[in-house]
Amino acid sequence: TTMTLQTSSDNSFIKKLKTSGRSLVVFYGSQTGTGEEFAGRLAKEGLRYRMKGMVADPEECDMEELVSLKTIPNSLAVFCLATYGEGDPTDNAMEFYEWLQNGDADLSGLNYAVFGLGNKTYEHYNQVAIYVDKRLEELGATRVYDLGLGDDDANIEDDFITWKDKFWPAVCEFFNIESTGEDVSIRQYRLQEFTDEMPERIFTGEMARLHSLQNQRPPFDAKNPFLAKVIVNRELHKGGDRSCMHIEFDIEGSKMRYDAGDHIAAYPTNDQELVEKIGKHTNTDLDTVFTLINTDEESSKKHPFPCPCSYRTALTYYLDITMNPRTHVLKELSEYCSDAEEKEKLKSMSSTKPEGKALYQKWIIEENRNIVHVLEDLPSCRPALDHLCELLPRLQPRYYSISSSPKLYPTTVHITAVLVDYTTPTGRHNKGVATTFLASKKPQLDAPPPTVPVFIRKSQFRLPTKPQTPIIMVGPGTGLAPFRGFIQERDFHAKDGKTVGETVLYFGCRKRSEDFIYGEELEEYAKKGLLTLHVAFSRDQAHKVYVTHLLEKSADELWRIIGENNGHFYICGDARNMASDVRNVITKILINKGNMTEDDAVAYLKKMETQKRLSADVWS
Ligand code: FAD
Ligand code: 2AM
Repeated sequence: TTMTLQTSSDNSFIKKLKTSGRSLVVFYGSQTGTGEEFAGRLAKEGLRYRMKGMVADPEECDMEELVSLKTIPNSLAVFCLATYGEGDPTDNAMEFYEWLQNGDADLSGLNYAVFGLGNKTYEHYNQVAIYVDKRLEELGATRVYDLGLGDDDANIEDDFITWKDKFWPAVCEFFNIESTGEDVSIRQYRLQEFTDEMPERIFTGEMARLHSLQNQRPPFDAKNPFLAKVIVNRELHKGGDRSCMHIEFDIEGSKMRYDAGDHIAAYPTNDQELVEKIGKHTNTDLDTVFTLINTDEESSKKHPFPCPCSYRTALTYYLDITMNPRTHVLKELSEYCSDAEEKEKLKSMSSTKPEGKALYQKWIIEENRNIVHVLEDLPSCRPALDHLCELLPRLQPRYYSISSSPKLYPTTVHITAVLVDYTTPTGRHNKGVATTFLASKKPQLDAPPPTVPVFIRKSQFRLPTKPQTPIIMVGPGTGLAPFRGFIQERDFHAKDGKTVGETVLYFGCRKRSEDFIYGEELEEYAKKGLLTLHVAFSRDQAHKVYVTHLLEKSADELWRIIGENNGHFYICGDARNMASDVRNVITKILINKGNMTEDDAVAYLKKMETQKRLSADVWS
């Protein structure tokens, strides 16, 4: 079968390549911008090899044209593809992915290479890139260089530059070309500053449409977030030095709907103190209004973020100023150092030499410096702020598992969020962007409620359709969030007179007296017989007790529900250790109680996954 993708001359990447004399196209599958950034870097570096490159969004391209890329001499297609969730492609690569899976195009003569962006703490590590790399070859295309895999849990920047360092020589050998030896440091965007721009034409934090935050118009989505009122923001912890917030957003009148298990995304703003520091270190008046215009006229992306806006707006709403800067940013910054030693340090960290990589790992990653820390610690480095704005990645919305059920709360969305707040090895106090922003959004009696730009993202994390189906939920810490919604929903059905199957929750926290969040609510549900509650207090005794220990002890209950009664099993929370530990425990129980071999048990879990009887909502 052949699937037809949308076509129009606008979508013809071949035409664009030909009219602008290019032979390299770098496609990206990106959700948070890293894949797109890597694609941009590769396209730019092509110049060094006289391969003029172009970045392309598969969603905006007629990908069937891959069959005729070979009509351009010495052409090459590179794919920077991220894997999300349960091994899924990003939204913008979905159609292309399905076309590859279902189609049978003849891709002979197509030269390609793939770099994947993934995270090892998740199941299905880099599944999308691995599949595309294999599938392109199956369809007859020629792999110019080996698949590269980046692990965002470790140091994806290092993985990328290490791959890139071998990729280019392989490309040279394949096409029999040589490096021009020139280091490309050309600007992608041209600066225009304004002295008299009309205020009504200046962006002030909107994501797409001017004034969309003042003139709110549904439908609301990532480009057009809804300004939700924060009507409740209370502390859930009763002691200890951490903070966990219960927040209720009012979505009345937004026409946004949600289901228990969905996520809500919030657009945060950066700490004003950090914004001011960047203004100071770049010697710039932050109220200057400017536009960055793409010098590549073929590109569908005219500006890196909504322009014109003030530098203050760009640094507050549009740019990520708290993550560890990537090596290409350091390289560009090195040009702005007047001190030779500081310049050398930045150059070294952006090189692929072992000592440079080790320095980057120590000075940037381990000592956890952000762009402000870099400018503070290298006082001779005084970059042009517009250049910095071109280099910094976009500030991303943060996702939260919705902790309410629409059956009970049709006009509010609840979230449960832990405040991120820690001290770095250089003694600096780092504050999580979104959680610090949310913590400041406290409704006051005598003032209008504070607001947050939000949108809802549908998820696959769902209760069974029949309330009778028994369920087991495992959610330590904030992993409890979606299960609060699930339990509310089952309680609603019970009150409605429906038969509700066994509803079992495994929750874990440090101490009963400190972080047993929603403790009273949960115990109330348990008391009336709706909920079977197992709580692991890890620090209330000398030895650790985790949800996994309690699961091991209740092997019979687990086998009865998932082995005998076709129940559903859910895991939510920390992706790093907890989720895989829990999977291992279930595997063991299946082996022991279900008389399975290890292979049987693994296959059983896989089958549960395809039947949607096993679902995970995890983050790291
Ligand atoms: P950021 O500014 O993004 O900082 C976080 C980063 O700081 C971390 O990635 C880490 O690199 C670093 N960091 C944090 N602590 C330390 C430390 N002690 N030492 C060194 N470095 C550190 N969160 C919830 O609280 N509740 C939820 O229900 C929830 N659901 C989620 C659902 C999904 C699908 C996803 C993807 C994430 C979810 N999260 C949830 C996480 C949430 O999206 C944010 O990542 C989290 O709130 C932190 O955001 P922030 O902007 O405050 O922190
Ligand atoms: P700890 O912090 O005392 O180690 C919520 O974060 C709870 O999950 C805490 O009580 C935490 O215990 C516990 N926890 C930490 N690692 C875990 C793991 N691998 N599996 C299950 N629970 C874990």
